[in-house]
Amino acid sequence: MSIGSRITGVGSYVPPKVLTNFDIEEMMETSDEWIQQRTGIKQRRWVEENVSTSDLAVEASKKAIENAGLTKDDIDMIIFATLSPDHDFPGTGCFLQAKLEMPAISVLDIRQQCSGFLYGLSIADNFIKAGTHKNILLVGAEIHSKGLDKTPEGRNVAVLFGDGAGAVVVSRTEVNSPTDSHIINHFLYADGAHAKELWLPAPGNAFGAERINKAMLDEKLQYPQMNGRNVFIHATKCMAKVLGEALQRSGTDINDVDIFLFHQANLRINQKVAEILQIPEEKVFNTIQDFANTTAATIPIGMDEAIKAGKLKPGMLVASAAFGSGFTWASALWRQ
Ligand code: ACO
Repeated sequence: MSIGSRITGVGSYVPPKVLTNFDIEEMMETSDEWIQQRTGIKQRRWVEENVSTSDLAVEASKKAIENAGLTKDDIDMIIFATLSPDHDFPGTGCFLQAKLEMPAISVLDIRQQCSGFLYGLSIADNFIKAGTHKNILLVGAEIHSKGLDKTPEGRNVAVLFGDGAGAVVVSRTEVNSPTDSHIINHFLYADGAHAKELWLPAPGNAFGAERINKAMLDEKLQYPQMNGRNVFIHATKCMAKVLGEALQRSGTDINDVDIFLFHQANLRINQKVAEILQIPEEKVFNTIQDFANTTAATIPIGMDEAIKAGKLKPGMLVASAAFGSGFTWASALWRQ
C-alpha cells in the first residue's frame, strides 16, 4: 500500500454568450472556412462586461467540490492556473478564496499557460504525497476575450481563444493496486529560449522607465504576440514526446489507455500527435470545436465534457498532454 492522490471531483463553467465564427467575421477579415480548416474551431464563449476570471472559477470550483462529495471546509489548498488574472497581484487564487469564503488555507498561483493545469496536477499530487495536504482544489480559468486585438490586425490570434473555467479536487488516497483510482505520473518541461514566440509583452518591467505607455499601446504590445507556425511545430513534437515518456516510464501500452485528453490549441496539432503515436482518433476527446483554446481551463473543461458525454468513467486510464507559452509542456497519466 502507498499513499497517493486521485481526482475526486470535476466541474466546469463557461459563460453563456456564444460567438460563432460567423460572429467573428463581423469583427475582422476572416472566414468560418479559414478558421475551421486551420484550427477546427466553430465557436467559443466570451464573457459579458463586469465578469472576472475569479467569477468563472467560483462556478467551476463549487461544482468540483460538490462532485467530490465534499464541502468547502474540507479543502486545504487552492492551486490557481491562469495567464489572464483578475489583477497583476495578488494572484487570482486569493480572489477566488475570498469569494468562496475559505479562509486560512494555502493558496498558490501558477503561471504555466496552456500547461498550467498539468503543472498544477503535479504540484497537488506532490503536496498530497508529502503528507501536508488532503484535499486540493485545482482550478484553471481564463478570460481571453478582454485581452484580444479584435481589429483585422489581430486576426491571427483573436480567432483562437475562448473564455471558461474548469476545476478538480485532488484528494489523498491509499493505492493498493494499479487499478485503483490514482494519479500515476506526471512530467513537466519548459524551454524559456522560446519565451517570445508566444507572449504578452506589456505591461512589463522589462521596458525602460514605465510598465506601459502610449507608445507601447500604439505598438499594440498589450496584445498577445504569436509565431503560430513555430508554436505548431514544437507543440506536435513536444506533446508526442512527453506523452510517450509518461507511457514508457509507467510501463503502459498505449492501447491500454481509454481516453486521451489533450490541450486544445488546434485540432490539427492533436491529429498530428495522434498520428505520431498511432492513437485511434476515437480515443482522443476534443472540445476545441465548441470552446476554442481556453488555455489553463482546457483540460478540466475537457474532463467535465467527457464525463457528461459518457466517454470518461470511473476506473478508466486517462493520458493527458499539453503545450503552451513559455514554451512549457507536460503530460500526466491517471486512473480516473
Ligand atoms: N483569418 C483569415 N486569414 C488569416 C487569419 C485569420 N484569422 N490569420 C492569419 N491569416 C492569413 C495570414 O495572413 C496568411 O496570409 P498570407 O498567406 O496571405 O500571408 C495566411 O492566413 C496563413 O497564415 P499562417 O499564420 O501561415 O497560417 P498557419 O497555417 O500557420 O495557421 C495558426 C495559423 C492556425 C495560428 C497555426 O499556426 C497554429 O495553430 N499554430 C499554433 C497555435 C497555438 O498552438 N497557439 C497556442 C498555444 S496558446 C497558449 O499557450 C497561450
